[in-house]
Amino acid sequence: MAAIFVEPIIGGNGVIIPPDGYLQGMRALCDEYGILMVSDEVMTGWGRTGAWFAVEHWGVSPDMITLSKGVTSSYFPLGAVLVNDRIAKHFDQNVLSCGSTNCAHPIGCAAASASIDVYQQENLVNNSAVMGSLLYEKLLELKEKHRTIGDVRGKGLFSAIEFVEDRSTKEPLDDLGPAVKLLREKGFWTMNRRHILIVAPPLIISREELQESLLILDDVLTQLKL
Ligand SMILES: Cc1ncc(COP(=O)(O)O)c(C=O)c1O
Repeated sequence: MAAIFVEPIIGGNGVIIPPDGYLQGMRALCDEYGILMVSDEVMTGWGRTGAWFAVEHWGVSPDMITLSKGVTSSYFPLGAVLVNDRIAKHFDQNVLSCGSTNCAHPIGCAAASASIDVYQQENLVNNSAVMGSLLYEKLLELKEKHRTIGDVRGKGLFSAIEFVEDRSTKEPLDDLGPAVKLLREKGFWTMNRRHILIVAPPLIISREELQESLLILDDVLTQLKL
């Protein structure tokens, strides 16, 4: 049987959000041709995008979801795969003949269980959605103000700012290194992928903390004339 793997929002290349209909179309093609749809939610899972899993934004049910990072809040290394009933039932009768040294590690599973409790008790998926809207609004304001911002995009607390030399040609800005360094010195921890700055604060962030951090970002861009 064939399978197709998809990151519903591509993280590593700069938070690329698919157009509406893209994932639904992929689901329909998978159904038509009997292909399993596997959603890689290693980055996007566990509330990062303002929903438990990013596929929910488009009402799509994959056959499998791969998970890591947020499953334990990243306090302990753990990966997991969610499967639908049809696949799960297959393994009621068949052995899954693979293994790994740390499979079902008790500390990893305990960390996952505790993290999920906190996500629920502290309503963090909703916080990601609400703070994410504010974040996106503020990023649009920064785009108005700073000439090198070519694009901003985001869902929940998973967002990116794309820096360009020239908005009309979209030529990428050469070097974001000094900006990332200065941001860190001022307490704004982030990472860049070439000319793209990833902005993905913790799900517990408050409105005040978000506003404070975006002021730092604004200051740094002003200081570096970006
Ligand atoms: C989207 C995505 N998929 C898969 C992986 C690989 O996950 P792991 O390191 O848990 O094997 C990563 C790692 O960063 C990732 O970001």
